[in-house]
Amino acid sequence: MEDELKNIVESAQQKVAAVTSRANFESVKAEITGPNGALTKVMKGMGAVPKEDRPTFGKLINQAKTKIQGFYDEALAGIEQAELAARIGPAIDPSLPSPNAALGSQHPLTKVREEICSIFKQIGFTVTEGTEVETEYFCFDALNTPADHPARDLQDTFYLPNDAQFGNVSKKADERYLLRTHTSSVQIRTMLKEKPPLRIISPGRCFRRDTVDATHSANFHQIEGLFIDEDVTVRDLKAILDYFFERLLGKGTKTRFRPHFFPYTEPSFEVDFSSSHLAKLGSDWVEIAGCGMVEPAVLDSVGIDQEKYSGFAFGMGIERIAMILYGIDDIRYFYQNDARFLSQFA
Ligand code: DAH
Repeated sequence: MEDELKNIVESAQQKVAAVTSRANFESVKAEITGPNGALTKVMKGMGAVPKEDRPTFGKLINQAKTKIQGFYDEALAGIEQAELAARIGPAIDPSLPSPNAALGSQHPLTKVREEICSIFKQIGFTVTEGTEVETEYFCFDALNTPADHPARDLQDTFYLPNDAQFGNVSKKADERYLLRTHTSSVQIRTMLKEKPPLRIISPGRCFRRDTVDATHSANFHQIEGLFIDEDVTVRDLKAILDYFFERLLGKGTKTRFRPHFFPYTEPSFEVDFSSSHLAKLGSDWVEIAGCGMVEPAVLDSVGIDQEKYSGFAFGMGIERIAMILYGIDDIRYFYQNDARFLSQFA
C-alpha cells in the first residue's frame, strides 16, 4: 500500500511536470485524482483496510494528496505564465527605456516666465503670486483707476456675480468680483501685506474681453514688478529694466522710455527696445512694457509713508516676449495644444 502510494506520487510528479497546456493538465489531473484516477482508486480501497490500520493509511493518503496538489499548483502557475506571455508577446524588460518615449517638455510660455523670473531673482527680487479672481478694489480703485475708466467697462472686463446677485446679503454686497485684467493688483496685495523695502515680481494669468486675433487673446499672461525703498528714482527704474532686457534679449539690446499715462504711476512710460540680432522684427524700436514711479496716491491707499519711500513698478506681457524671442507670429498657437508647435520648444 505504501509502495503503491509512493509510485502514484512519483508518476504524478513526472506527468504533471511534462504538462504543456491547460487541456493536457486537465487530462493528467483526471488520471490521478479524477473519479477513476489512480489515487481515487486507492482511496476507494479504504473500506477493505482493517480498522486499526485506517488512521495510518488515511495519513499516508493525505500526505500523497498534499504533494500532488503542490505539483498541480506549480504546473498551473507555469501554464498561466505561458498564457500571459502568449497574449502580450515576447518577454518585456520593464527597466529598459521605452523605444518610442514621447518626452514632455515645458510650454514656451513657461520657459519664458521661468527665464524672466530667474533674471530678476538674481538681482534680489522675490516671486509672489496673486489671485486670478479679484475685487474691483485691488484691480482698479487701489490703483487710482477711477470709476469711469474704460478698463472698468463691461465691454473690457469679465465680471462675476457677487453675493448680492446670488441673493445673499453680505457686508460687502456692493463689491464686484472680476477676472483680473492685469497683474498690477498684486502690487496692492503685496504692499498691504509687507513693509518696505520691497522687491517683487509677480507672473500670472490675466483676462480681458478682447476679440481673439493674431495678437489678442481673452486669456493671456503678464509679469508685474514692484520696487519700493528709500530714495528710488527713475534712474533706478531705467537701470533695472536696461539690465533685464539686455539679459533677456541679448547683448547690445537698448531700451528707451516714452512718456505715457497709467493711473498708478507718475511719471509713466512705455518701454521700447531695439536689438540688432532681432532685426527680423522689421522695425527699429518695439514696444515691450509699461512702467513708472509709483503714484503717491497708491502709496497712500496702502498706508506707505510717501515722504520716506518711493518706488517704481512695471508690467509686461509674457506672450509678447515669447513671440519676439521665438519669432512666433500668432498668439493663438500658445493655447491650441498642438504637439507640432509645442515639440519645437522641447
Ligand atoms: N498694468 C499695465 C497693463 O496691463 C502694465 C503696467 C504699466 C504695469 C505700468 C505697471 C506699470 O506696473 O507701472 O497694460
